[in-house]
Amino acid sequence: MTEAHLAVIGHPIAHSLSPRLHAAALIAAARPGHYAAFDVKPEDLGPAVRGLAALGFVGANVTIPHKEAVLAHCDRLDPGAAAVGAVNTLKFTENAIHGFNTDGAGFLAALADALPGWSPAGRGALLLGAGGAARAVAFALRGAGARRIGIVNRTPARAAALLAAVGGDPAMRPEDADLLVNCTSVGMGTGESPFADWQRLRPGCVVYDLVYRPAETALLAAARARGHPAAGGLGMLAHQAAGAWRIWFGDAPPVAVFLEAARA
Ligand SMILES: NC(=O)c1ccc[n+]([C@@H]2O[C@H](COP(=O)([O-])OP(=O)(O)OC[C@H]3O[C@@H](n4cnc5c(N)ncnc54)[C@H](OP(=O)(O)O)[C@@H]3O)[C@@H](O)[C@H]2O)c1
Repeated sequence: MTEAHLAVIGHPIAHSLSPRLHAAALIAAARPGHYAAFDVKPEDLGPAVRGLAALGFVGANVTIPHKEAVLAHCDRLDPGAAAVGAVNTLKFTENAIHGFNTDGAGFLAALADALPGWSPAGRGALLLGAGGAARAVAFALRGAGARRIGIVNRTPARAAALLAAVGGDPAMRPEDADLLVNCTSVGMGTGESPFADWQRLRPGCVVYDLVYRPAETALLAAARARGHPAAGGLGMLAHQAAGAWRIWFGDAPPVAVFLEAARA
């Protein structure tokens, strides 16, 4: 088996857990290869992507702040990534750079792991945030049959744009939600919570926080203290990584290894 060269590009990149996850998976699957992290400035994105393709890399992950800008450097876009308007996974073939987004499917898989038997189908979901991750989650929930999707965001125009794109409901309130998802970066590395209206949430409303550092965020702690089923972003991180593996190699990813490495 030839050695598989893989990478993640972002700016900054030192915080990324992706190298740890993919290194563990390559070892567990006895697949020769290595996964490197490259700090790529926005002005260098195009040359960096073309450079990885020219060097024979199998693929790459793309993280903040490049997930949207990288679309312009893809020759082919998976329909899911095109709908979301963001790419987190690149695959390089002989003559094309392909863009995919595994965040939405990763979110749904993590939700299913955290709440076996629970489905967003027919339910109301309220999303906090309207950035790239919120777009992926909103389209994934729509695809999974969510009945109503509401979006609140610090910058209301971004929420309105995403509501329009995904067919969301601008009138949705916390009282209407069966699922509350934090898609903002609030709480990442801090003790802040993006939500305070706990008295307005229905008992039993599920709370999912995309933030994974710390693993137990202030939002999750507050949700659990009030009896809400709650889960944090490490599961999604593992599942979106497993999705990238499936795209790169076409075989079943070692999901348990990704989950274990994310939680290590
Ligand atoms: N678990 C996973 O696998 C996974 C996958 C993807 C992303 N994530 C996490 O999800 C978060 C969002 O990622 P992203 O790619 O969507 O980032 P992004 O495109 O930069 O969007 C950030 C979002 O957070 C909001 N926000 C930022 N600071 C805020 C503040 N102080 N108060 C209120 N809202 C604030 C922004 O609001 P404005 O529109 O007003 O700026 C925007 O809605 C990050 O923490 C990221 O690490 C996790």
